[in-house]
Amino acid sequence: MAVTLRPVQRQDGGRLVVLLDQLGYPTTEAEVDARLDGWMSDQSSWLIGADDDGELVGVAAMHVMPLLELDGRLARLLALVVDERYRSQGVGQSLVAAFETRARDSGCVKLEISSSRDRTRTHLFYKQLGYEDTCGTSARFIKAVHQAA
Ligand SMILES: CC(C)(COP(=O)(O)OP(=O)(O)OC[C@H]1O[C@@H](n2cnc3c(N)ncnc32)[C@H](O)[C@@H]1OP(=O)(O)O)[C@@H](O)C(=O)NCCC(=O)NCCS
Repeated sequence: MAVTLRPVQRQDGGRLVVLLDQLGYPTTEAEVDARLDGWMSDQSSWLIGADDDGELVGVAAMHVMPLLELDGRLARLLALVVDERYRSQGVGQSLVAAFETRARDSGCVKLEISSSRDRTRTHLFYKQLGYEDTCGTSARFIKAVHQAA
């Protein structure tokens, strides 16, 4: 297996549907295609893909934003998933390494990941890579906003 990293492209839509399904977010190809429009046109966001012989087998979605309370920027890893057939072979670690490189090159001083409480094995993965679970000291508030029809 020779998995390489490259930007996600529009023709990866079908494979993204499979990966998002494995992440627990069933999505249609039309929905993914529409979302890709937003990603491709956003200068502060990147979709890093893992590729095996032309097939997208993993993705890391990231966004960089400025900070007000500190100098520098913050990078968020918004989604990370590796195809079930390719797990435990180092692909996830390479995607996180690419996320960190891109963040550093973009002037980031902080990296942030949020992950459902029930993904306990994945949390070990992040801890092994140097990330600290700060939920004991830092609450996370989310509110769904409904768009007007
Ligand atoms: C988490 C995930 C991206 C890791 O990708 P991967 O390519 O399997 O990871 P790597 O091979 O680089 O590293 C795996 C190592 O990290 C550790 N690890 C900790 N949690 C792990 C997990 N959930 N899956 C795989 N490895 C994990 C283990 O040491 C593991 O080595 P091992 O398989 O020999 O035990 C992948 O398992 C995945 O897509 N999981 C489902 C979706 C998910 O949880 N995404 C993150 C949402 S926040």
